Amino acid sequence: MSDPLHDDRGNRDRSITNPTGRGSYYPKGRSGDVTPAPEGPFLIGDAMTGGYGRGADILHGCTIAVERGEIAVIVGPNGAGKSTAMKAVFGMLDLREGAVRLDGEDITRLTPQDRVKKGMGFVPQTSNIFTSLSVEENLEMGAFIRRDDISGTMAQVYDLFPILKEKRRQPAGELSGGQRQQVAVGRALMTRPKVLMLDEPTAGVSPIVMDELFDRIIEVARSGLPVLMVEQNARQALEIADKGYVLVQGRNAHTGTGRELLADDEVRRSFLGG
Ligand SMILES: Nc1ncnc2c1ncn2[C@@H]1O[C@H](COP(=O)(O)OP(=O)(O)OP(=O)(O)O)[C@@H](O)[C@H]1O
Ligand SMILES: [Mg+2]
Repeated sequence: MSDPLHDDRGNRDRSITNPTGRGSYYPKGRSGDVTPAPEGPFLIGDAMTGGYGRGADILHGCTIAVERGEIAVIVGPNGAGKSTAMKAVFGMLDLREGAVRLDGEDITRLTPQDRVKKGMGFVPQTSNIFTSLSVEENLEMGAFIRRDDISGTMAQVYDLFPILKEKRRQPAGELSGGQRQQVAVGRALMTRPKVLMLDEPTAGVSPIVMDELFDRIIEVARSGLPVLMVEQNARQALEIADKGYVLVQGRNAHTGTGRELLADDEVRRSFLGG
């Protein structure tokens, strides 16, 4: 008999919730915490309604969330509001209704910069690196809120993405698509976030590079850092997702475990090409 929790590729190893040792991106000192964590997801954009400026609402009661130690994936058609939902969670648009909570704390009114200070790392869909700066300068920029020694974190990022160490003096704009995405993810990791938000981390890369990036994202999640990501490669992303959200026209159309969504006839027909 195979063990459904551990037999396939993905982030189903519950030990990830107890991060230890080398390569952990989870802030140190948490393993000794005695206070139990608050109930509910680690990060949630709860029943969000809102749009850009004074424009019409794009999100209509949309909820996206990620639990401690898990990978949550948001999929849906172009223009569904996936990026808008991520931007709303990061504080880049004002919500008319709903709330954003991080580790139980209401952060709905905080600026993006203050959310970074609270532990959010966000890689937007576009313009997520400084192309004229070197790889290493990009990583240094990522650490802008830190006043302590960043060399250890940089070493961890180079451990995760060895090619970046090789290319650290090159302008990031000269790198391949997959390598640029590594720079973008690495840059977000430089703040030592408590949660990582990725908007289409595999956009425009080959299937092989996509697999490689997913493996690195799983590795990050296993180190104890929850990951909330948008993906256009819906099937592959749901395979590694603990939780999946299908958004359509700014609303939650389907929610479930990655496995449930992959097995759902309606989801398969409408969003996964049968
Ligand atoms: N900066 C903006 N100002 C005004 N409207 C915007 C802005 N960005 C996106 N929109 C609109 O919001 C809606 C949702 O767009 P959004 O980018 O969130 O979709 P998406 O699901 O991320 O799509 P994609 O799969 O193409 O990335 C679209 O109608 C889009 O035109
Ligand atoms: Mg988008």
